[in-house]
Amino acid sequence: MKRRIGILTSGGDCPGLNAAIRGVTRAAYEMFDAEIIGIHDGYRGLIEGDYSLMVRSQFSGILTLGGTILGTARTPFRNMRVIGDDRVDKVAAMKKTYKDLKLDCLVTLGGNGTHKTANLLSEEGLNVIGLPKTIDNDLYGTDFTFGFHTAVDIATDVIDRIHTTAASHGRVMVIEIMGNKAGWLTLYSGVAGGADVILIPEIPYSIDKVAGIVEKRARDNKGFTIIAVAEGAMSKDEAKLKKKEREIRRAAEHYSASAEVARQLTSLVGVEARTVVPGHIQRGGSPSAYDRVLSTQFGVHAAELIRDGHFGVTVALKGNSITHNDLKDVAGVPKLVPEDDQMVTIAKHMGISFGA
Ligand code: F6P
Repeated sequence: MKRRIGILTSGGDCPGLNAAIRGVTRAAYEMFDAEIIGIHDGYRGLIEGDYSLMVRSQFSGILTLGGTILGTARTPFRNMRVIGDDRVDKVAAMKKTYKDLKLDCLVTLGGNGTHKTANLLSEEGLNVIGLPKTIDNDLYGTDFTFGFHTAVDIATDVIDRIHTTAASHGRVMVIEIMGNKAGWLTLYSGVAGGADVILIPEIPYSIDKVAGIVEKRARDNKGFTIIAVAEGAMSKDEAKLKKKEREIRRAAEHYSASAEVARQLTSLVGVEARTVVPGHIQRGGSPSAYDRVLSTQFGVHAAELIRDGHFGVTVALKGNSITHNDLKDVAGVPKLVPEDDQMVTIAKHMGISFGA
């Protein structure tokens, strides 16, 4: 029996997307009679009917390739049911494309937003399977998302390189790591890179505490300090504001978490503080060996689920096992760093400060 599979990648890209696409499609071609439709630029392509019928050779040679061969876009979930100036009913349009293509299922590779829309389409009666990707690792129900470990490797390399120049000059270096809501990437790369201070959105910081660490290190004849700060890290004062108020203030002040920490440390301690923002470098390039394996495992499990006709789920890693969760149970549930997370405790026991 032939199965027609639509596949799309949505939201911010990350290393491992192509490896996961390859995993799903190769396993599908191996296990059953599969026809693959590549949908371009995520849900935009599904809404606008922008896709192409793909052949097996197109999924060869992409294991190590960064980005996504299908293209991606951010199509916010909050707008999915909103009819805008273009008068397009996006949900109806997506269902129509699915039906016109006579798809047996839709595989969606993405993060939190992607999973919310995947769940919406599942509730609308489509056969959907999700795959969890994001460098933020903030998807509920899976220990890790693919893309995360590669980003940890990249951010760690940045911290390592900053370490030597910081030590030479005796400077405070503030490195801004991606992660607006979740601090996983900053936490893991901060531990891996031996940061002295880790500031994450989940644990609001006091700049006086951070200044105290810099001063103590100076007293201990350590003239430099490495501070890993998540782009969404906030001070205790900021944390008292409503999210909207915080956003307005940050936009008005052209805020960046690292610049703010460096500015305040300079005025409080009088040190020379420099900022480094690696930005989208953390999402670029080839996936690490770990992510190639994880993406392949996730992709193959998705193909097995298609073979078994098991839909309305998203693939997950639990311990050492590849498994799946119901979309309805995980969609829209962010996985933030709990204050008592074991890695936070381990970092504290290593003498790393969270500025709290
Ligand atoms: O979700 C991944 C992520 O890289 C976040 O860490 C970051 O806040 C955001 O995407 C940046 O989004 P964009 O690529 O749209 O600038």
